[in-house]
Amino acid sequence: MKIFARITGTGSYLPEKVLTNKDLESMVDTSDQWIRERTGILKRHIAETYQTTCDLAEQAARRAIDAAGKRPQDIDLIVLATTTPDKIFPSTACLVQQRLDIHGCAAFDVQAVCTGFIYALSVAEKFVSTGAARCALVIGAETFSRIIDWTDRDTCVLFGDGAGAVVIEASEVPGILSSHLHADGAYETLLHVPGGVSRGYNMPDAEGDPHYTRMRGNEVFRMAVNTLGRIVDETLHANDMKKSDVDWLVPHQANIRIINATARKLNMSMDKVVVTVDQHGNTSAASVPLALDTAVRDGRIRPGEVLLLEGFGGGFTWGSVLLKF
Ligand code: ACO
Repeated sequence: MKIFARITGTGSYLPEKVLTNKDLESMVDTSDQWIRERTGILKRHIAETYQTTCDLAEQAARRAIDAAGKRPQDIDLIVLATTTPDKIFPSTACLVQQRLDIHGCAAFDVQAVCTGFIYALSVAEKFVSTGAARCALVIGAETFSRIIDWTDRDTCVLFGDGAGAVVIEASEVPGILSSHLHADGAYETLLHVPGGVSRGYNMPDAEGDPHYTRMRGNEVFRMAVNTLGRIVDETLHANDMKKSDVDWLVPHQANIRIINATARKLNMSMDKVVVTVDQHGNTSAASVPLALDTAVRDGRIRPGEVLLLEGFGGGFTWGSVLLKF
């Protein structure tokens, strides 16, 4: 009999400290009106200096495990998506494992920037559907504020910190129906942090400080809209489904205008699209599970409904997961 991987619990966590558009007006040459109109973002949450990605991830993970009615000791796989790990090594997945007092199961990080959670969920699903794991914890967590130049108005208004998590379990009834992952490294420099461990940070010809995120926003925007439109078609085609079969779109929360464009492509009214970008900006790998958890906890998403999760990010990377909740 086919084994499915089904989401049985969701959780999320946002750090307490809030940075509003008004706050940003005193930091860079911007305005609340510009940020609202061009991005839909009203505020973002920023980790305190003592809070790390692991701290955020732990909170989201505990909530997801509770929601699934499980104990940490039931988890037999941890896959964590992040661009902002606590340490070069061990992986943040191993750090979370230690916090949860789980010992022995596989734990590793996945790096696909804003598509990270989609990648992580897809990888974990393969473990569960082949019988290699029965109860997996999948986390997207970021302290993206640490790789933002807070004097650069092109990027600093867009990003925030947060974490989201799900528990997926082996099931005889359908859960995840398909996942679709893509990447094209040819677009490396449209969205990147130029410096790194192997390359170093000493590159005088780099545009700006090599520690921080550089983005050619306009080009990223155009690519994101086109690519996400195509992945909707690919996902529906693979499942022999119509646009009207999808109950909820749970998109990467980067910019309300990108989300609107994808919803139009699906002929979906915005009340069937989960939007949280206004509340926390772009939290990279955390954004899809944060949006999912919000709509599960407020009762919008109900068991049996069909969800289309999608993401787009640095690399470029992009992907989708279609599932029955
Ligand atoms: N405040 C005020 N004005 C600003 C700001 C700001 N924060 N930032 C830029 N501007 C100005 C620009 O300088 C420009 O001025 P000019 O016309 O005098 O040259 C004007 O606003 C318009 O700039 P554009 O870049 O054309 O604005 P656009 O409408 O494209 O919006 C934005 C910019 C929000 C960055 C948009 O392009 C975007 O969302 N891009 C995609 C980002 C994204 O989705 N990333 C996803 C992946 S993220 C990841 O993987 C880490």
